[in-house]
Amino acid sequence: MKAAVFTGDSPTLQIEELTRPEPSRGEVLIQVAACGVCHTDLHVLKSEVAFPVPAVLGHEVSGTVAGVGPDVTGVSVGDRVVCSFIMPCGTCRHCVRGHEDLCETFFAYNRLKGTLYDGTTRLFRDDGSPVWMYSMGGLAEYCVVPATDVFAVPDDVDLADVSIVGCSSFTAYGAVSNVAGLGMGDKVAVVAAGGVGSSVIQFARAAGVAQVIAVDVSDEKLAAAKALGATDVVNSLTEDAAARIIELSGGKGVDVAFEALGRKDTFALAVDVLDDGGRAVVVGIAPAGSRGDIDLARLVRRKLSILGSYGARARTDMPQLINLVRQGVVSPKDVITRRYSLDEAPEAYTALSRGEIVGRAVIDIS
Ligand SMILES: NC(=O)c1ccc[n+]([C@@H]2O[C@H](COP(=O)([O-])OP(=O)(O)OC[C@H]3O[C@@H](n4cnc5c(N)ncnc54)[C@H](O)[C@@H]3O)[C@@H](O)[C@H]2O)c1
Ligand SMILES: [Zn+2]
Ligand SMILES: [Zn+2]
Repeated sequence: MKAAVFTGDSPTLQIEELTRPEPSRGEVLIQVAACGVCHTDLHVLKSEVAFPVPAVLGHEVSGTVAGVGPDVTGVSVGDRVVCSFIMPCGTCRHCVRGHEDLCETFFAYNRLKGTLYDGTTRLFRDDGSPVWMYSMGGLAEYCVVPATDVFAVPDDVDLADVSIVGCSSFTAYGAVSNVAGLGMGDKVAVVAAGGVGSSVIQFARAAGVAQVIAVDVSDEKLAAAKALGATDVVNSLTEDAAARIIELSGGKGVDVAFEALGRKDTFALAVDVLDDGGRAVVVGIAPAGSRGDIDLARLVRRKLSILGSYGARARTDMPQLINLVRQGVVSPKDVITRRYSLDEAPEAYTALSRGEIVGRAVIDIS
C-alpha cells in the first residue's frame, strides 16, 4: 500500500510502498477515506514532539472497514467509520474510570514507542523493517486501529469530511464540553484560530455562549473565524491583543480563554485576559519542557484556573460528537478549506507550516 513516511532526515514526508497491514486480536483494518492535516503531526516533523522514526503520521481518520481481527464484535467489513486520535485501551486505571483521555497504555505504547498495545507495530517496509505508527498511522491507504476506537458513521454524514472529527472536533469537544465549564452568558476568547481553534469557536457557539473573541495573526483566518460564529476578532500582530480583548469583553476580561497554539506568549495572553474567577483552557501543545510564566498572586487572589485539555473520552464522546455533526449542530465541512491527494501530503504539511491553511486541510485517500 501507499503511505506517507516521516524518515526523520528532514521535516517532510516521503511517499513509499509499505506492506498492507494485518489486524491482530481486537483490532480493525480500515481502508482510509480521508485523513486530516493536524499541527501535532507538524510538531513531530519539526522534532518539537519526539517520536521514533521511520513513522507514518496522520491521526484524523475516516474510512471503511476492510477486515477485523479475532474477538472483534459489533464492527463488520464494509462499515463506514471514524476514529479518534486517542485510541483507548479500555482496561488501564484511567480507562476503567471513564477517563479515556488519560489512557496510560496509549501514552506508554503509542506516543512513546509508536506501537499498538502488544508492543509491536502493524507497519513494515517490504524488507520487513518496522515503521512506527503515530496513533493509527492514517496517512496511508490502510491503517489498523484498536476496536475500542472505531465509531460508526451514519449514511447521511459525508465520510471524508467526518475525518476531522477524529482530532480537531474531538479536541474542541473535550475542551468546550468537558473542561471549560461554560455557561450561556459566558464571554470567551479563542487564542489561535487554526484547525483546532476554528472548531473550538464552532463548539463554543453551539454551547450557547454570549461572546466569542477570536485571536490570530492572519486576517484571512479571522474572517473565516467570523464566518464560523466568532462575534469579534483581534489580530494580535496589529493590535495590543490583551487590551483589545478586555475592551471588547466590556472592560473586565473573559470567563474562559482557550489557547490553541502551544506557545509561551499565547499562553500568557490567555491568562492575562481572564476576568476574576476565569479559566484558561490550554489545548496547544508546546515543545516538551516549555514553561509558562504566571503571576502567582493574581492566580490566587482572583481565583483563576489553568486547565489542560487533551482530546476527549473516545467511547463516551465520539458517538455524541458524530450525532452533533449529523444534526448539523457543528459542521466539519465548514472548517475544511483544502483537499490534497496522498501523493500531495508533503505539500499539505509544507502549506500548514507556512501558515497557509485556513481552518483544516484533509488528505483524500480513497
Ligand atoms: N490538546 C489536544 O488534544 C490537541 C489536539 C490537536 C492539536 N493540538 C495542538 O493544538 C495546536 C494547534 O493545532 P492546529 O492543528 O489547530 O494548528 P494550525 O496550524 O491549524 O493553527 C495554528 C493557528 O495559530 C495561528 N497563529 C500563529 N501564531 C500566532 C500567534 N502568535 N497568535 C495567535 N495565533 C497565531 C495561525 O495563524 C493558525 O491559524 C498545536 O499545538 C497542536 O499540536 C492539541
Ligand atoms: Zn491532531
Ligand atoms: Zn487505557
